Amino acid sequence: MCSSKAWNYVTVLLLCLSWSSFLLGADDRITDPVEVTALRAIKKSLVDVNKNLSNWDRGDPCTSNWTGILCYNRTLEDGYLHVIELQLLNMNLSGTLSPELGRLSKMTILDFMWNNITGSIPKEIGNITTLELLLLNGNKLIGSLPDELGYLPNLNRIQIDQNHISGPLPKSFAFLNKTKHFHMNNNSISGQIPPELARLPSLVHLLLDNNNLSGYLPPELSQMPSLLIIQLDNNNFEGTTIPSSYSNMSKLLKLSLRNCSLQGPIPDLSTIPGLGYLDLSSNQLNGSIPGNGLSLNITTINLSNNNLVGPIPSTFSDLPLLQNLLIANNSLNGSVPATLWQGRTLNATERLIFDFENNQLSNISDTSALPQNVSVWLKGNPLCSNTNAVQFCGSQSDTEINQRSNSTLDCPPQSCPVPYEYSRTSPVRCFCAAPLLVRYRLKSPGISYFLPYKKTFEEYLTSGLELQLYQLDLDDFEWEKGPRLKMYLKLFPVYQANNTNTNVFNDSEVRRIRSMFTGWGIPDSDIFGPYELLEFDLLGPYQHGLSLNFNCYIV
Ligand SMILES: *[C@@H]1O[C@H](CO)[C@@H](O)[C@H](O)[C@H]1NC(C)=O
Ligand SMILES: *[C@@H]1O[C@H](CO)[C@@H](O)[C@H](O)[C@H]1NC(C)=O
Ligand SMILES: *[C@@H]1O[C@H](CO)[C@@H](O)[C@H](O)[C@H]1NC(C)=O
Ligand SMILES: *[C@@H]1O[C@H](CO)[C@@H](O)[C@H](O)[C@H]1NC(C)=O
Ligand SMILES: *[C@@H]1O[C@H](CO)[C@@H](O)[C@H](O)[C@H]1NC(C)=O
Ligand SMILES: *[C@@H]1O[C@H](CO)[C@@H](O)[C@H](O)[C@H]1NC(C)=O
Ligand SMILES: *[C@@H]1O[C@H](CO)[C@@H](O)[C@H](O)[C@H]1NC(C)=O
Ligand SMILES: *[C@@H]1O[C@H](CO)[C@@H](O)[C@H](O)[C@H]1NC(C)=O
Ligand SMILES: *[C@@H]1O[C@H](CO)[C@@H](O)[C@H](O)[C@H]1NC(C)=O
Ligand SMILES: *[C@@H]1O[C@H](CO)[C@@H](O)[C@H](O)[C@H]1NC(C)=O
Ligand SMILES: *[C@@H]1O[C@H](CO)[C@@H](O)[C@H](O)[C@H]1NC(C)=O
Ligand SMILES: *[C@@H]1O[C@H](CO)[C@@H](O)[C@H](O)[C@H]1NC(C)=O
Repeated sequence: MCSSKAWNYVTVLLLCLSWSSFLLGADDRITDPVEVTALRAIKKSLVDVNKNLSNWDRGDPCTSNWTGILCYNRTLEDGYLHVIELQLLNMNLSGTLSPELGRLSKMTILDFMWNNITGSIPKEIGNITTLELLLLNGNKLIGSLPDELGYLPNLNRIQIDQNHISGPLPKSFAFLNKTKHFHMNNNSISGQIPPELARLPSLVHLLLDNNNLSGYLPPELSQMPSLLIIQLDNNNFEGTTIPSSYSNMSKLLKLSLRNCSLQGPIPDLSTIPGLGYLDLSSNQLNGSIPGNGLSLNITTINLSNNNLVGPIPSTFSDLPLLQNLLIANNSLNGSVPATLWQGRTLNATERLIFDFENNQLSNISDTSALPQNVSVWLKGNPLCSNTNAVQFCGSQSDTEINQRSNSTLDCPPQSCPVPYEYSRTSPVRCFCAAPLLVRYRLKSPGISYFLPYKKTFEEYLTSGLELQLYQLDLDDFEWEKGPRLKMYLKLFPVYQANNTNTNVFNDSEVRRIRSMFTGWGIPDSDIFGPYELLEFDLLGPYQHGLSLNFNCYIV
């Protein structure tokens, strides 16, 4: 097996070399010298502790296997090869981003995710008019967002989350006509959200949580024609209200404004037909909860830690997908309607939690036993002095247990040495193969409990990746602050019934799958929301795949 793998590798390598040396002639195909100079400057300003970029000292970027560089597979009109992608994720790089990045003028993906880069974002990146994905999340970048980034006509995605970016959101970002994704959470962005952003025609995900935004929430945002997710938690829109215009957002799936210093009443959001997730907790909202109910698609309603009064609306009773109704720490009064749970029958993976702790609730309409997997928490309400209700008045916790599957396979361990392993999901027992290991995260999911949706997720992901369902083993998942859902995926090669198994993905398949993750080729899902790649390890038999990956890129 090992020798046939090595042979595959050599074959592909020879093919690549023969394309470039014989068909076209290696000397005819060189990288644009402007870009070569720029790349050297880019490397010079980085600190590369792991020496991942040591091969950037030799030969030509596009034809000599420079790590992380993907080029167009043909020369352009100017007679040169050009860099199309810079893929430098997760290499423990520090140092700064060189302004020379602006000279990679045909680039579509700029990816420095999950490194330790400091300094500011060079305004020259605004010169790369071909740029589609700007991926700088998970570094230590400081300074403000350059206005120039607003003039990138092809930008689809800007990810600068988890840095130390400060200053305002540039008004120029309103010109990002093709941008679908603003991921800027966990920075120190300050000032008002520019109302001008309302003209963004393509924006679907607005993630600005955990910043220092202030001012008011622009009512104009409701005019954004494509917006699906607004997540602005942990900002300070002190003393302002939730604009009533937000109830006109006919496509909105998620509205999360936790801990935003908002006041005033909750608008009637029953008019948003597909709203699946609503978090308005930890504000100073007052008045009563609108009685018109919410979309039948709602999974999560969190109104905890506000100043709400009045009754729990009985219109929350017929919500078939509800997982969490959390209204703790308010001043709700009246009776708890048992109709909230009486209509629901849950299966073993589902759960439904009603948290009404610390309110002024005086009564419960029915104290008979709850359906399976339903919890009702009422501690800290006057009704707890009523002995009939004590069963609902204990202490509770609601974290979903990370269910790591420990099913053991009855297969001979010595026949499948690491990094090979037996697939637990394969249609035949004891299929030993080398999985691709992917760390992946849902950044703003539309659900609060994952297990009932695990199967749906596996179907969504494998169909998005054009793999068979059994090729995915979702080994492990974990909720993080946000809430975000981190998971560990193992992707196994196809099992060939005619016994021609190679037990590894071939190089083109590795390249294809990897680019689905690094190029955001998997379509977004309404339920699971935006996703991100944390790590794509190429270990064992795939170690060499990385260099091939970057040498024979086909556009
Ligand atoms: C970078 O280099 C380190 C140390 O040699 C290695 O473990 C790691 O896999 C490399 N990372 C990439 C993405 O090439
Ligand atoms: C960043 O640097 C710190 C300490 O220097 C190190 O612990 C951490 O692993 C680095 N992170 C990344 C993503 O390289
Ligand atoms: C990243 O580099 C720092 C030194 O800059 C080192 O302390 C740390 O262990 C490295 N982390 C990884 C994951 O390589
Ligand atoms: C970026 O473009 C501007 C003109 O639009 C030009 O003046 C500047 O020199 C360019 N910068 C780089 C680094 O190419
Ligand atoms: C976006 O569209 C507006 C109006 O349609 C146009 O004026 C502007 O130049 C466009 N922006 C970019 C960056 O192409
Ligand atoms: C984002 O910021 C919040 C609030 O400071 C923090 O709780 C959370 O851990 C941060 N998340 C990440 C991924 O940095
Ligand atoms: C509710 O969710 C289902 C399943 O995701 C979807 O097909 C349907 O269109 C949603 N309803 C609305 C009104 O958005
Ligand atoms: C894992 O093993 C423990 C103890 O061996 C058992 O209690 C638990 O039910 C198992 N979990 C699964 C998902 O099989
Ligand atoms: C439980 O219900 C969910 C829908 O909420 C469904 O997707 C899942 O397949 C069901 N699980 C079982 C074991 O029936
Ligand atoms: C084995 O089956 C696969 C499809 O399952 C097919 O693509 C391949 O050509 C077959 N190989 C042989 C030697 O029959
Ligand atoms: C490409 O670079 C990798 C290390 O990054 C090395 O292992 C491989 O031999 C190189 N291949 C060629 C053709 O230079
Ligand atoms: C480059 O890729 C395109 C699209 O796959 C293909 O049609 C073309 O033949 C390739 N060119 C070279 C020189 O390999």
